[in-house]
Amino acid sequence: MLQKLLITGANGNLGSICRQRLGHIAKILRLNARRGLGEAGPNEEIVYCDLSDKAAVEAMVEGCDGIVHMGGQAVEGSWETVKAANIDGMFNLYEGARKSSVQPRIFFASSHHTTGFHAQTTRLDPSKSPTRPDGLYGVSKVFGEALAQMYFDKFGIETASVRIGSCFPEPPSHRMLSSWLSADDLISLIERVFRVPRLGCPVLYGVSDNQSTWWDNSSVAYLGWRPKHSSERFRAKLDAEQTPPHRDDPDAIYQGGLFCTDTIHED
Ligand SMILES: NC(=O)c1ccc[n+]([C@@H]2O[C@H](COP(=O)([O-])OP(=O)(O)OC[C@H]3O[C@@H](n4cnc5c(N)ncnc54)[C@H](O)[C@@H]3O)[C@@H](O)[C@H]2O)c1
Repeated sequence: MLQKLLITGANGNLGSICRQRLGHIAKILRLNARRGLGEAGPNEEIVYCDLSDKAAVEAMVEGCDGIVHMGGQAVEGSWETVKAANIDGMFNLYEGARKSSVQPRIFFASSHHTTGFHAQTTRLDPSKSPTRPDGLYGVSKVFGEALAQMYFDKFGIETASVRIGSCFPEPPSHRMLSSWLSADDLISLIERVFRVPRLGCPVLYGVSDNQSTWWDNSSVAYLGWRPKHSSERFRAKLDAEQTPPHRDDPDAIYQGGLFCTDTIHED
């Protein structure tokens, strides 16, 4: 059991699921957001700060033996926004980890938008396939994975960089039948990341056991993670509600779908 697990982005979609469902893996949950975390529960500590505030982030990381890093810009945004949250924020978090009196193990919420420009006909092995980010957001997650690798090689800080597919209650589009990750499978993956005796610094895809998939996680079989759910049970409902994208549609061509056609945003 962990002593103190930091969950960043704890008021976001995935961070709030972690807050509800990870209490059993740590004595104390230290929860971070910029605002809106409500009352602290009996085993909770609340820390409000922006990830770009280096001193505050370093103080927040001190003493935590586990981190689930869900905080950050979670979609495409301007460079200033992406940089503050996902570039500066990642650096501050890892500097906090390096300086901490307790070395934490880290679950980093990366994204499949690190490889979004790969065709849906290509099968990717995260240990071998090149990144092809589909926007500034995807580039920032590639940076995060590289930063995690460097802090592992230099300082031994273990990180699982998990390229989350699409973690929603149901896949909202036909593309996401391939990338869908159930909340149960996310939680069981986080449990494995903190339970496995030696983690190292793997990169893997956070995806359920879907019938159609683009990703091969066999290089991380040692984690012992077995996703249980499949998106297939939503296919008939999606077919009834939406016309599948035409084969010339970016949502049918690229793994990152419409992110690939988005522009560069300016503030
Ligand atoms: N939900 C998915 O399907 C999915 C897919 C791929 C990757 N991810 C990644 O998983 C993580 C969580 O995703 P989510 O869907 O819960 O996103 P979300 O937007 O709901 O949550 C992100 C949280 O980070 C906070 N945040 C943003 N910028 C910040 C900053 N500068 N300082 C402090 N806090 C900041 C937001 O306020 C929010 O609470 C993100 O890193 C996202 O990139 C999610």
